[in-house]
Amino acid sequence: MCGIVAYIGHREAYPIVVKGLKRLEYRGYDSAGVALLNEKKEFLVYKKTGKVSDLEASVGTQDTHAHTGMGHTRWATHGAPNDLNAHPHLSQNGEFAIIHNGIIENYASLKKALIDRGHIFKSETDTEVLIHLIEEIAKNNEVTFEEAVRMSLTQVVGAYAIVILSKTNPNYLIGARKGSPMVIGVGEGEHFIASDATPIVEYTRNVIYLNDGELAIVDNQKLTVKTIDNTIKTPYIQELEINLESIEKGGFDHFMMKEIFEQPRSILDSYRGRIHVNEATITMAGIDAFEDKLKNIKRIIIVGCGTSWHAGLVGEYLFEDFARIPVEVEYASEFRYRNPIINEDDFVIAISQSGETADTLAALELAKSKGATIFGICNVVGSSIPRMTDAGAYTHAGPEIGVASTKAFTAQVTALTLMALSIAQKRGTISTVRLRELLTELETIPAKVEKTLESNDYIKTIAAQIKDTRNALYLGRGYGFPIALEGALKLKEISYIHAEGYPAAEMKHGPIALIDEEMPVVVIATQHSNYEKVISNIQEVRARKGKVIAIATKGDEHIKEQADHVIYIPECEEAMLPLLATIPLQLLSYHIAVMRECNVDQPRNLAKSVTVE
Ligand code: M6R
Repeated sequence: MCGIVAYIGHREAYPIVVKGLKRLEYRGYDSAGVALLNEKKEFLVYKKTGKVSDLEASVGTQDTHAHTGMGHTRWATHGAPNDLNAHPHLSQNGEFAIIHNGIIENYASLKKALIDRGHIFKSETDTEVLIHLIEEIAKNNEVTFEEAVRMSLTQVVGAYAIVILSKTNPNYLIGARKGSPMVIGVGEGEHFIASDATPIVEYTRNVIYLNDGELAIVDNQKLTVKTIDNTIKTPYIQELEINLESIEKGGFDHFMMKEIFEQPRSILDSYRGRIHVNEATITMAGIDAFEDKLKNIKRIIIVGCGTSWHAGLVGEYLFEDFARIPVEVEYASEFRYRNPIINEDDFVIAISQSGETADTLAALELAKSKGATIFGICNVVGSSIPRMTDAGAYTHAGPEIGVASTKAFTAQVTALTLMALSIAQKRGTISTVRLRELLTELETIPAKVEKTLESNDYIKTIAAQIKDTRNALYLGRGYGFPIALEGALKLKEISYIHAEGYPAAEMKHGPIALIDEEMPVVVIATQHSNYEKVISNIQEVRARKGKVIAIATKGDEHIKEQADHVIYIPECEEAMLPLLATIPLQLLSYHIAVMRECNVDQPRNLAKSVTVE
């Protein structure tokens, strides 16, 4: 996790680096730091515990004049979040400086050997070990800066995206990656390096996504890419798809709220150009390429973490309902540690907003090693998962900055809906008439989401009534069950209220004991299959004085007698329920978190992209 940004060129580096760090802060916000290399070949290093704004305040009017510099925003792994452990770290002789995203897994053995050879460390980080190693290799082997970095990386086990500066080589900097993302922006007489494109897009649209095991040697004019074993590569320059507006708050108080309200557009973007209602066809290049395999497939395995895992559960219902394929949905973090049975006939789908989640990547690697076909559903273009899979589908939700996933989830569900329907058509498990009906319905969803968002003020009044609760229960059945899980996760992660999602009927097997007059129970109770049964579950809650907040179908008057609060969503096909029912739950947790004065966009202990296992 952690965000890195670096600049070399004709402009002042410090403002670019600090602005870039603010854009990357979603990746970690325990501490921040910069190292600037000035014309006198001196490092100006400033570090501070806390946010980038704390760093800025502590730097104040101190000297920041330099045209080369780099910065880091940290999500602590090795060593507490304090000033000492904040990056950048310097080598012992002060010649080199490093920023690092990832984990050096063999740092302990490297550190011990370095200590035995007289090195003294200032921090508890794995990163400092690497910069000491670079110093030692440069000194002992009398090799160039570039060679020292390259040779040291051959000794490193683990994941990294690093940038390194050298005082005696002020005209260039070196970036390298393995398992952690790195984007290089190519400008006019300047280059940028960052964990993602958001710090770069303001200055240039031309970027290179560095591949695993590659180094970039970058000066203000030239860029050389080579592998760790010293093979020169031809860099492939791509044009960025994101724009500046998409990474700014656009008048909203928080990114999360902006992203919730973007969903009519992001859902549309996920299916735009892919569905053809009149012809009743779906074009998804990644799926179409595997038509033969999918016709006869025996099983789909879906892997993901957190919200993406919840999307996977929705996918399970969709694939089973429409394509009649058995599906297993696995926590990526568990999957690889239990010797799963995977074979060449399996189709493994990884779902990930960031495309960088370490557990999901590791699960995919395992599936790939067993010969399965691996497929990615990701939001971040050019991220690691799309680059390692056989095929995939981008969700096109646009940058999601709030740590709590909102629009990425509904875009994932949209992509899964298209995949399930497309595979169903290829397998002949859906009629053309039914497919056309569903595609027609899908086209109404953005407007229905818009309608659902109109309940925002009402949802805020409900939030005010339950904001001080210590626990909450979320119940749903069928397609409503993953939504209950997702609603509970949203509440937990941004408002720090303990919440559990449960299949509504399972409540009576345990959680019902928790219910009393203080327990808010959010129930997905729309008029779909199981409606009557869910109403019975609501009555069970009411009989124990629980406070019921029902998500119901517009026009259902009966439910008003059953629930303390009713949030209506438009009528929809059951398979599209997740796309609508999620919205009020996102809004509810957002308002509760704001009322509890929590940091909505950057909840404590979390980071947007979890690149450690
Ligand atoms: O980038 P990914 O979708 O792979 O991330 C997976 C989870 O870390 C993520 O969904 C997390 O649970 C969110 N903070 C939930 O809002």
